[in-house]
Parts: sequence; C-alpha cells; structure tokens
Amino acid sequence: MAAAAMLCGACCTKQETAPQADPAEVVMQNILARKSVRSYNGDTIPAAVMENILRAAMAAPSGRDWRPWSFVVLTDKSQYDSIFEGNFNMQKFKESGAVVVICADTIHMGPTRDNPDGPAVAQYNPLWRDDMGAVTENLLLAVEAYGLGACWTACYPYPQTMAPVKRTLGLPASVVPYAVVPIGYPNGDTQPKDKWEPARVHYNRW
Ligand SMILES: Cc1cc2nc3c(=O)[nH]c(=O)nc-3n(C[C@H](O)[C@H](O)[C@H](O)COP(=O)(O)O)c2cc1C
Repeated sequence: MAAAAMLCGACCTKQETAPQADPAEVVMQNILARKSVRSYNGDTIPAAVMENILRAAMAAPSGRDWRPWSFVVLTDKSQYDSIFEGNFNMQKFKESGAVVVICADTIHMGPTRDNPDGPAVAQYNPLWRDDMGAVTENLLLAVEAYGLGACWTACYPYPQTMAPVKRTLGLPASVVPYAVVPIGYPNGDTQPKDKWEPARVHYNRW
C-alpha cells in the first residue's frame, strides 16, 4: 500500500507521511468486532453501501463454485411483519433499515462432472448449506466494516419460519430462505463477545 503524503498548507513546511494501518490488523479488528445487533435507529441504508455488502457476501467460497445464493433485499417495511411472522420475538428487528433474505437454490443447473462439456442438467447441490454459512458470515463482516449492525436470524430449517418468507417473496420451489438478516444503524453500544478459547485448539492430534 502506498504511503499518503499530507501537507496542511498552514503550518507544515515539509511533507509528512501519514501512518498506514496494517491491513492484517484492520481485518482482524473487523472480524473480532462483529456482533449480533438487535436494536437500530430506523435510518435507511444507502444503496451503494448495500451493494458493497452484497458484493462482499458473494465473494464467499463455494463448493464446486456453484454459488447457490440469491438475495432478496427488503426496504419496504410493510413487508417486515409477514417476513418475521414465523419467528418469535421479532418486534425489535422492525426498526432495521433493510432486511436481507439470504436464499439458496438447492438445485444447480450445469454440466455434470462425468460430462463437463455436456448439456446443463439439474443436480442437487449437497454442499448448499456449507456455502450459505460462508456467504452469510461474509455479509455480516461487511456490515460491521460499514459501522452498521445486523443479526443472523434463523429461517432454514424451520418449516414455520420458512413458510411465510417463501409465500411473501414468491420463492421458486427449489429455493430455500436460509437466513433473514435485519441490517441497520445500531442503537446503543452492543459489544462483541470474546470467544477465544485456546483449549479448543489441538495441534497435530486431538
Ligand atoms: C444459524 C444462526 C441462527 C440464529 N438465529 C437467531 C435468531 O433467530 N434470533 C436472534 O436474535 N439471533 C439469532 N442468531 C444470533 C446468535 O444468537 C448469536 O450469533 C450468538 O448469540 C453469538 O453472539 P454474537 O453474534 O454477538 O457473537 C443466530 C445465529 C446463527 C449462526
């Protein structure tokens, strides 16, 4: 990263070099600062910020690079009631600036491994859940980076939670509403948890 040169013009007589943040430190701080935020001030989220959050989400790793994800971004708060119908104690999320429903297509259309140059065939994607965890965490980290707050709320695998979401959004049959993520400007000062447990780590064998 190039060092930025600063000259205030008033008192500075020579160029000074601004200290550059260590990229690893910046990324580490962002990961460790992520937390579930459940209270928001109601402000909407700029479209460009939302697009960058989704760009980060889609950068997630994906089994066979099949990328089963799609996103439904809700900015119309009149939809919130029906989206949260099947989940308990969801009133607190209604002040979020947007809700992102992270969806997974369990069926992949493409050539098979045995016939990579062959026609596109509908195949069940056995790794879709794994990909969806990665994409959801990427989204949450981008939310944190923008000074926003979010909370992963469970949708899959609960039928009573998925049904109203599928109905409200008109999801195709093979598309699963995986997670419902309210995003907003935090109200309050939720602190991240320190989850570091050295005893969970084993070297070379259990
Ligand atoms: C799969 C999954 C489902 C979750 N569902 C909910 C939920 O329905 N409601 C909620 O308030 N939080 C939900 N959470 C957030 C967890 O409660 C939260 O991540 C956990 O308490 C750890 O806190 P932290 O995110 O601040 O580190 C969910 C998290 C995950 C990963």
